[in-house]
Amino acid sequence: MNQHPQTIPDLILFNQLAEHYVRLEGRLRNIAADMESLDQLIRAHYKTGAVNHTTRPGDSRSDIDLIDLGCGTGEQAAVLNHMGYAVHGIDISPRMIALAGQRFGRHPRLSFQLGDFRSYQQARGFAAGYSLFGCLNYLHQDTDLAAVFQNATALLKRSGILILEVWHRRPYSGLGYTYQAPAVVLESSGESIRRRRRVERSVRNGRDFIQIHYEYETRTGHLREMHTFRLFDCEEITRPAQAAGFTLLDVRGSLGESGFDRKRSGGMVLVLRAP
Ligand SMILES: C[S@@+](CC[C@H](N)C(=O)[O-])C[C@H]1O[C@@H](n2cnc3c(N)ncnc32)[C@H](O)[C@@H]1O
Repeated sequence: MNQHPQTIPDLILFNQLAEHYVRLEGRLRNIAADMESLDQLIRAHYKTGAVNHTTRPGDSRSDIDLIDLGCGTGEQAAVLNHMGYAVHGIDISPRMIALAGQRFGRHPRLSFQLGDFRSYQQARGFAAGYSLFGCLNYLHQDTDLAAVFQNATALLKRSGILILEVWHRRPYSGLGYTYQAPAVVLESSGESIRRRRRVERSVRNGRDFIQIHYEYETRTGHLREMHTFRLFDCEEITRPAQAAGFTLLDVRGSLGESGFDRKRSGGMVLVLRAP
């Protein structure tokens, strides 16, 4: 069972199928629109948050250095870089990082590096960091989450901004159920991939988990794997964040929404200010 975050480099979706990741996972996403919203969030909060360092309200994007925590194959980083930001993406999967580098590594002020967001360090301080599409949900232990925030305080500049998009626990908290999604067939890089997905929710030690069982039929054969996400309440994220000195500035249901329905929202975007 892939239950421990250390096993992430072994996950098929992020390795053997990494080149198909965006086609498989991004079908229902609008990366361009999401990055417009992320851009607005960064600019709204960075200027109010940044009291004591060199960037002032109204500064251009080229003055803002971003770090993408769990950058995958680099699509979001590339869009933000195109808008004018300098972006550095890190990911724990060697295959994801290799693909991001092949695709976008030659763009000026855009770089990718293998790294674990619980421990990755760099000398340069970033004005803002972001982690999108549930990367943090792969962390099952409170100690892992605490490590991410401790580490981020050193990665970010003083009063830097951290934006986290995670799956939200509350709507189905405490409910176990199984759901079989219809099979989909996708064309990607000249290959036809059939994917089946079974979702199971479970509760362990008062925490909610979602397990997604994937089956892929590809040219090279039949592959199976399971991804286990821990689902978070706002408090489960803000507690370790505040312990590390972060301040919660905003919570919303998704990047493009301004409100947050604590009872119903399946997603959660938190905007935090570093100490
Ligand atoms: C669901 S994908 C999201 C990728 C990208 N952010 C997106 O929105 O498409 C999760 C990514 O998080 C990465 N990841 C998971 N745990 C990590 C860790 N501890 N440090 C760095 N990357 C990690 C995985 O390798 C994978 O690329």
